[in-house]
Amino acid sequence: MFVWRRTQEHQVSVDQKVSAQTPDWTREQVRGFWDPGPKLLRSIRRYQAARKHGGPLAGLRARFWALNHLFWATITQSEIHLNCQIEGGLRLTHPTGIIIHPEARIGPNCMIFHQVTLAGAVVLGGHVDIGAGAKLLGPLTVGDHARIGANAVVTGDVREEATMVGIPAREI
Ligand SMILES: CC(C)(COP(=O)(O)OP(=O)(O)OC[C@H]1O[C@@H](n2cnc3c(N)ncnc32)[C@H](O)[C@@H]1OP(=O)(O)O)[C@@H](O)C(=O)NCCC(=O)NCCS
Repeated sequence: MFVWRRTQEHQVSVDQKVSAQTPDWTREQVRGFWDPGPKLLRSIRRYQAARKHGGPLAGLRARFWALNHLFWATITQSEIHLNCQIEGGLRLTHPTGIIIHPEARIGPNCMIFHQVTLAGAVVLGGHVDIGAGAKLLGPLTVGDHARIGANAVVTGDVREEATMVGIPAREI
Protein backbone atom coordinates (compact mmCIF):
# COMPACT_ATOMS: atom_id res chain seq x y z
CA MET A 1 0.00 0.00 0.00
CA PHE A 2 2.83 2.34 0.99
CA VAL A 3 4.75 1.57 -2.16
CA TRP A 4 1.58 2.02 -4.20
CA ARG A 5 0.93 5.42 -2.59
CA ARG A 6 4.52 6.56 -3.21
CA THR A 7 4.26 5.43 -6.81
CA GLN A 8 1.00 7.30 -7.22
CA GLU A 9 2.48 10.46 -5.70
CA HIS A 10 5.45 10.24 -8.05
CA GLN A 11 3.09 9.61 -10.96
CA VAL A 12 1.03 12.68 -10.07
CA SER A 13 4.16 14.83 -9.94
CA VAL A 14 5.30 13.29 -13.24
CA ASP A 15 1.98 13.80 -15.01
CA GLN A 16 0.88 17.17 -13.70
CA LYS A 17 3.81 19.21 -12.54
CA VAL A 18 6.89 19.05 -14.69
CA SER A 19 6.88 18.32 -18.40
CA ALA A 20 9.55 16.16 -19.98
CA GLN A 21 8.88 17.82 -23.35
CA THR A 22 8.00 21.48 -22.98
CA PRO A 23 10.71 23.65 -21.46
CA ASP A 24 9.57 25.79 -18.54
CA TRP A 25 11.85 28.81 -18.91
CA THR A 26 10.76 30.28 -15.58
CA ARG A 27 12.96 27.62 -13.94
CA GLU A 28 15.98 29.50 -15.31
CA GLN A 29 14.87 32.98 -14.33
CA VAL A 30 17.56 35.16 -12.79
CA ARG A 31 16.44 36.43 -9.39
CA GLY A 32 18.68 39.26 -8.31
CA PHE A 33 22.33 40.03 -8.93
CA TRP A 34 23.72 37.14 -6.92
CA ASP A 35 22.12 34.13 -8.57
CA PRO A 36 25.05 32.03 -9.80
CA GLY A 37 23.14 29.06 -11.29
CA PRO A 38 20.80 31.00 -13.57
CA LYS A 39 23.54 33.49 -14.40
CA LEU A 40 25.93 30.73 -15.44
CA LEU A 41 23.20 29.24 -17.61
CA ARG A 42 22.27 32.63 -19.05
CA SER A 43 25.86 33.19 -20.21
CA ILE A 44 25.74 29.87 -22.09
CA ARG A 45 22.35 30.67 -23.66
CA ARG A 46 23.41 34.17 -24.75
CA TYR A 47 26.76 32.92 -26.08
CA GLN A 48 25.03 30.25 -28.17
CA ALA A 49 22.42 32.76 -29.41
CA ALA A 50 25.14 35.18 -30.52
CA ARG A 51 26.97 32.39 -32.37
CA LYS A 52 23.74 31.13 -33.98
CA HIS A 53 22.22 34.41 -35.15
CA GLY A 54 25.40 36.05 -36.36
CA GLY A 55 25.27 39.71 -37.43
CA PRO A 56 27.85 42.47 -37.28
CA LEU A 57 28.29 42.48 -33.51
CA ALA A 58 27.83 38.74 -32.96
CA GLY A 59 31.55 38.11 -32.43
CA LEU A 60 31.72 40.86 -29.84
CA ARG A 61 28.58 39.67 -28.06
CA ALA A 62 29.84 36.09 -28.04
CA ARG A 63 33.12 37.25 -26.54
CA PHE A 64 31.31 39.25 -23.86
CA TRP A 65 29.18 36.25 -22.85
CA ALA A 66 32.22 33.95 -22.95
CA LEU A 67 33.90 36.27 -20.43
CA ASN A 68 30.71 36.40 -18.36
CA HIS A 69 30.67 32.58 -18.45
CA LEU A 70 34.28 32.47 -17.27
CA PHE A 71 33.34 34.68 -14.31
CA TRP A 72 30.37 32.55 -13.17
CA ALA A 73 32.21 29.30 -13.90
CA THR A 74 35.01 30.49 -11.61
CA ILE A 75 32.58 31.57 -8.91
CA THR A 76 30.74 28.24 -9.01
CA GLN A 77 33.82 26.11 -9.71
CA SER A 78 31.72 24.40 -12.36
CA GLU A 79 32.67 23.33 -15.85
CA ILE A 80 29.70 23.47 -18.16
CA HIS A 81 31.01 23.90 -21.67
CA LEU A 82 29.80 26.87 -23.72
CA ASN A 83 28.70 24.55 -26.52
CA CYS A 84 26.80 22.05 -24.37
CA GLN A 85 23.37 21.11 -25.70
CA ILE A 86 21.01 22.03 -22.89
CA GLU A 87 17.28 22.32 -23.44
CA GLY A 88 15.25 24.90 -21.54
CA GLY A 89 14.25 24.75 -17.90
CA LEU A 90 17.47 23.42 -16.39
CA ARG A 91 17.59 24.10 -12.67
CA LEU A 92 20.96 24.37 -10.96
CA THR A 93 19.86 24.72 -7.36
CA HIS A 94 23.24 24.71 -5.63
CA PRO A 95 25.56 25.33 -8.55
CA THR A 96 28.96 24.29 -7.24
CA GLY A 97 31.38 21.74 -8.60
CA ILE A 98 29.19 20.66 -11.51
CA ILE A 99 31.12 19.13 -14.39
CA ILE A 100 29.34 18.53 -17.69
CA HIS A 101 31.21 17.06 -20.63
CA PRO A 102 30.80 18.94 -23.95
CA GLU A 103 29.28 15.81 -25.52
CA ALA A 104 26.55 15.52 -22.89
CA ARG A 105 22.98 16.42 -23.88
CA ILE A 106 20.38 17.60 -21.39
CA GLY A 107 16.64 17.43 -22.02
CA PRO A 108 13.98 19.93 -20.88
CA ASN A 109 13.30 20.75 -17.21
CA CYS A 110 16.10 18.75 -15.63
CA MET A 111 17.52 19.54 -12.20
CA ILE A 112 21.16 19.07 -11.26
CA PHE A 113 22.44 19.49 -7.73
CA HIS A 114 25.97 20.28 -6.61
CA GLN A 115 29.05 18.14 -7.28
CA VAL A 116 27.40 16.24 -10.12
CA THR A 117 29.52 14.95 -12.99
CA LEU A 118 28.19 14.01 -16.41
CA ALA A 119 31.22 12.30 -17.91
CA GLY A 120 31.32 11.66 -21.65
CA ALA A 121 28.29 11.26 -23.87
CA VAL A 122 25.54 11.26 -21.26
CA VAL A 123 22.09 11.91 -22.72
CA LEU A 124 19.44 13.03 -20.24
CA GLY A 125 15.77 12.85 -21.18
CA GLY A 126 13.22 15.37 -19.95
CA HIS A 127 12.63 16.16 -16.26
CA VAL A 128 15.54 14.14 -14.93
CA ASP A 129 16.56 15.05 -11.37
CA ILE A 130 20.13 14.33 -10.32
CA GLY A 131 20.97 14.38 -6.60
CA ALA A 132 24.05 15.90 -5.03
CA GLY A 133 27.36 14.24 -5.79
CA ALA A 134 26.04 11.78 -8.38
CA LYS A 135 28.35 10.69 -11.18
CA LEU A 136 27.06 9.49 -14.54
CA LEU A 137 29.75 7.80 -16.57
CA GLY A 138 28.77 7.79 -20.24
CA PRO A 139 28.06 6.82 -22.84
CA LEU A 140 24.60 6.26 -21.44
CA THR A 141 21.02 7.47 -21.72
CA VAL A 142 18.65 8.42 -18.92
CA GLY A 143 14.91 8.20 -19.62
CA ASP A 144 12.32 10.90 -18.95
CA HIS A 145 11.29 11.60 -15.34
CA ALA A 146 14.10 9.46 -13.92
CA ARG A 147 15.67 10.32 -10.56
CA ILE A 148 19.31 9.73 -9.68
CA GLY A 149 20.00 9.58 -5.95
CA ALA A 150 22.64 11.56 -4.11
CA ASN A 151 26.15 10.11 -4.60
CA ALA A 152 25.00 7.43 -7.03
CA VAL A 153 27.44 6.26 -9.68
CA VAL A 154 25.52 5.41 -12.82
CA THR A 155 27.34 3.34 -15.42
CA GLY A 156 24.57 2.20 -17.75
CA ASP A 157 21.28 3.27 -19.32
CA VAL A 158 18.43 4.26 -16.99
CA ARG A 159 14.84 3.59 -17.95
CA GLU A 160 12.05 6.19 -17.83
CA GLU A 161 10.78 7.11 -14.34
CA ALA A 162 13.37 4.93 -12.63
CA THR A 163 15.01 5.92 -9.33
CA MET A 164 18.67 4.90 -9.13
CA VAL A 165 20.80 4.82 -5.98
CA GLY A 166 24.15 3.49 -4.83
CA ILE A 167 27.50 2.49 -6.29
CA PRO A 168 27.15 1.07 -8.85
CA ALA A 169 23.65 2.49 -9.13
CA ARG A 170 20.72 0.08 -8.89
CA GLU A 171 17.05 0.77 -9.40
CA ILE A 172 14.77 1.02 -6.36
C1 LIG B 1 17.01 8.83 -4.61
C2 LIG B 1 15.93 9.66 -3.96
C3 LIG B 1 15.33 10.61 -4.99
C4 LIG B 1 14.88 8.66 -3.46
O1 LIG B 1 13.89 9.32 -2.76
P1 LIG B 1 12.62 8.46 -2.25
O2 LIG B 1 11.89 7.92 -3.43
O3 LIG B 1 11.90 9.34 -1.32
O4 LIG B 1 13.28 7.20 -1.57
P2 LIG B 1 13.30 6.82 0.00
O5 LIG B 1 13.88 7.92 0.80
O6 LIG B 1 11.96 6.30 0.35
O7 LIG B 1 14.34 5.62 0.01
C5 LIG B 1 14.08 4.36 -0.57
C6 LIG B 1 15.26 3.45 -0.29
O8 LIG B 1 16.40 3.92 -1.03
C7 LIG B 1 17.48 4.23 -0.13
N1 LIG B 1 18.10 5.46 -0.65
C8 LIG B 1 17.49 6.65 -0.89
N2 LIG B 1 18.36 7.52 -1.39
C9 LIG B 1 19.55 6.87 -1.44
C10 LIG B 1 20.83 7.29 -1.89
N3 LIG B 1 21.05 8.50 -2.37
N4 LIG B 1 21.85 6.38 -1.83
C11 LIG B 1 21.62 5.13 -1.34
N5 LIG B 1 20.41 4.70 -0.93
C12 LIG B 1 19.39 5.57 -0.97
C13 LIG B 1 16.82 4.44 1.21
O9 LIG B 1 17.73 4.18 2.25
C14 LIG B 1 15.71 3.44 1.15
O10 LIG B 1 16.24 2.16 1.39
P3 LIG B 1 15.38 1.03 2.17
O11 LIG B 1 14.15 0.80 1.31
O12 LIG B 1 16.32 -0.14 2.21
O13 LIG B 1 15.06 1.62 3.48
C15 LIG B 1 16.47 10.51 -2.80
O14 LIG B 1 16.77 9.70 -1.67
C16 LIG B 1 17.73 11.29 -3.14
O15 LIG B 1 18.86 10.80 -3.07
N6 LIG B 1 17.52 12.55 -3.54
C17 LIG B 1 18.55 13.49 -3.83
C18 LIG B 1 18.39 14.67 -2.91
C19 LIG B 1 19.56 15.62 -2.95
O16 LIG B 1 20.62 15.37 -3.47
N7 LIG B 1 19.34 16.75 -2.34
C20 LIG B 1 20.33 17.76 -2.22
C21 LIG B 1 19.75 18.83 -1.34
S1 LIG B 1 20.92 20.06 -0.95
